[in-house]
Amino acid sequence: MSLSKENILDALQEVKDPELGKNLVDLGMIKDIEISGTAVRVTVALTMAGCPLKNQIKTDVESAVRNVEGVTHAEVILGTMTSEERARLFGREPDEMEGVKDVRHIIAVASGKGGVGKTTVAVNLAVALQKKGFRTGILDADMHGPDIPVMLGLTDRPVGNRGMLLPLEKYGLKIMSAGSLAGEGVPIVWRGPLVHKAIKEFLGRVAWGNLDYLIVDLPPGTGDAPLTVANAIPLDGVVIVTTPQKVALSDVRRNVGLFKSKRITVLGIVENMSFLRIPGAEDHQIMNIFGSGGGEKIAKAFKIPLLGKIPLDPAIREGGDCGTPITLKEDSEPGRVFAEIAENLVDQISRS
Ligand SMILES: Nc1ncnc2c1ncn2[C@@H]1O[C@H](COP(=O)(O)OP(=O)(O)O)[C@@H](O)[C@H]1O
Ligand SMILES: [Mg+2]
Repeated sequence: MSLSKENILDALQEVKDPELGKNLVDLGMIKDIEISGTAVRVTVALTMAGCPLKNQIKTDVESAVRNVEGVTHAEVILGTMTSEERARLFGREPDEMEGVKDVRHIIAVASGKGGVGKTTVAVNLAVALQKKGFRTGILDADMHGPDIPVMLGLTDRPVGNRGMLLPLEKYGLKIMSAGSLAGEGVPIVWRGPLVHKAIKEFLGRVAWGNLDYLIVDLPPGTGDAPLTVANAIPLDGVVIVTTPQKVALSDVRRNVGLFKSKRITVLGIVENMSFLRIPGAEDHQIMNIFGSGGGEKIAKAFKIPLLGKIPLDPAIREGGDCGTPITLKEDSEPGRVFAEIAENLVDQISRS
């Protein structure tokens, strides 16, 4: 007896979407079934590209198909529903930016290269804003290096609700990251177009609710990656993080040029690892490990405010490693600097 699509569909009637509780066939999630001898390939359309349950759905479909008599190979390809298909399923045409409709300001944090402290600044800035009483969220859009969950000590997985993802919560912040969807240590392979799609979903299909500020940790670099993300998001503007040495600053020049050419407002520059307070030295002596004055120069040249200078301080690194951002602490020099940066940023936004 040769295999037929009906055999496979029958088997798939038994596979339920874990969140929606209905079988995948009735939900319209089975897009295609190809049979070639004893090998079967099924294409499944997920309700969203960043669906937290996608691995489970894939495994369930694979094993259901493999259990059909006569099947020797089962392959599952994951795709996503179109917005019309989703609307049919959930009974309404959801707005693409539904999730951020009650978010007042979206601010991205960018850097010319990795390792300059972009994520550290994003996280501490968000904490500083939250401490000032603003309702604040963080979107980790560094899809290939999602470090936000580690820096906030987050191990929970987000759950979905009627086609929307619920953000995680910690320290009074709302958070969404690809790192939380995959789990720690799990490699994340995003194929080109999926990155863009997932970012849009992280914004539009996450129930952010009522927020004053949503801070977005962009991918590093001066190439396509940060721009693609920045263009997909209704941004108020970007904050650029740099360290003071020349090589980092030349990237910032490129970055500023890049954002300006795309009409994205550069709200300010943050100089990180600006100086080291020499432990035990008198008069609060400092050492300019990476040189000094670079941030000021750039700020002046481009007429962009320098929002603040953050010291090189082991407590900042420890805070990041332990998942307790330094700014949560009652009183510390870096915490005060981040509070100042938050204040300057709020001021800058009110003017722009
Ligand atoms: N001002 C600072 N003082 C000490 N360590 C820092 C400082 N800023 C960042 N770090 C540490 O440097 C490393 C890289 O920072 P990270 O924020 O991950 O950079 P990026 O996101 O730009 O790659 C992290 O371990 C972080 O804790
Ligand atoms: Mg980072």
